Amino acid sequence: MAKFIIEGQQKLKGSIEVLGAKNAAIKMVAASCLINGITVLENVPDILDIQKIMVILKKLGVKFSQTNHKLLIDTTYLKKGNPDPILVGLIRASIILVGPLLARFKKVKISHPGGCTIGRRPIDQHLKAFRALGIKIRENQDYYEFEQDGPLLNNPIVFDKISVGATENILLFASLCEQQTVISNAAIEPEIIDLIEFLKKAGAKIEVNNRRITIIGRHALKAVTHRVIPDRIEAGTFMIMAAVTNNPLKITGVVTDHLESLFEKFNKMGVEFEKRKDFVYIKKSKEIKATDITTAEYPGFPTDLQPPMGVLLTQAKGTSKINEDIFENRLGYLNELKKMGADIKKISNKKAEITGPSILKGAKIHSLDLRAGATLIIAGLTANGITEISQAENIDRGYEKIENRLQNIGAKIKRV
Ligand code: UD1
Repeated sequence: MAKFIIEGQQKLKGSIEVLGAKNAAIKMVAASCLINGITVLENVPDILDIQKIMVILKKLGVKFSQTNHKLLIDTTYLKKGNPDPILVGLIRASIILVGPLLARFKKVKISHPGGCTIGRRPIDQHLKAFRALGIKIRENQDYYEFEQDGPLLNNPIVFDKISVGATENILLFASLCEQQTVISNAAIEPEIIDLIEFLKKAGAKIEVNNRRITIIGRHALKAVTHRVIPDRIEAGTFMIMAAVTNNPLKITGVVTDHLESLFEKFNKMGVEFEKRKDFVYIKKSKEIKATDITTAEYPGFPTDLQPPMGVLLTQAKGTSKINEDIFENRLGYLNELKKMGADIKKISNKKAEITGPSILKGAKIHSLDLRAGATLIIAGLTANGITEISQAENIDRGYEKIENRLQNIGAKIKRV
């Protein structure tokens, strides 16, 4: 297990580029299984979560070649089979393979993708939607077996809860079914809209109207080349890093429209920034003011930016409230920030109050999960002294070569 060692309070300067969106790229790798041929994905980040899903698909006969963020996926020899249960346990997003593999082979068995540190993460909405389409599901404590043993039903799918993964799973499945499928109360995150662009290029007819998505699938989809959108969560993480450390920084390759909820908070807090077509310049701010954050589905404030925002709130004047409304256990990083000297009152697993500004000092802390890990890097860069963050691999799941990219803008961070 690797660690990051950070010497805080260095001057950061220059620019940092945002890479392709993890949460879009993973789904497109899964989507390539709907196609018999070669899919070309551009702007794919070289991160652990994508490597893991590639390993699962390699075992099913898919071939990959990857150079300079370009990923060629050859599904010519994709064979009927089930994703390796051990590997599925390593990446929660592997549930997304159900849609494409079921559409291609009419049957797939997948082990329970499990919970994770941020909450239980049930898949009841996925199951409900597949059942509405007439899919038989046998489940026990270890796995789910999905089977289409007759014609599909075209019942409308109405989610009780907005779910990114469940929306995507049905989108993928329905794109290869020759019928019209309507999803209501769908998630409409930018990564889903990008996946829809991919599926439309491949031949599916898809319309999005508020939270209602209508899909008319095809019996076969054609091979496509697609460029993955920039990662709005990585972009937001870097912007918050500049604001917390109060270092002017240019963040390039940003789709600013995807981050309106963050800019709104920056405006309220007095974080000074300049927004251009595809970059954001975070300036030195005079004083950062406290604000309240409630996470919500897009276009609301993203749960994945709640932890980085928590560090910014430690530097804001006054008391801020956090209300994590998407996941049930996503405030664990606050205990680590407390070890660094932050003034935090945990109200419940989903609510906390942060009073600032406080002087953070270096400490030995745990990365906990992907976004918490990136958050603690920001805290380490802000703190006085040395911070040691365990389990660097959590951060590698979603941020490519983070230490090299941060070193390039002046950070003192090394992996040991
Ligand atoms: C995706 C993102 C993740 C992001 C999240 C919310 C990927 C790989 N991950 O995760 O980074 O934080 O969206 O924007 O794209 N739920 C149910 N039943 C279900 C499905 C979900 O109760 O069947 C609940 C979850 O436990 C959670 C909430 O709904 O509390 C949102 O989950 P969902 O939108 O499905 O998130 P993921 O697709 O897992």
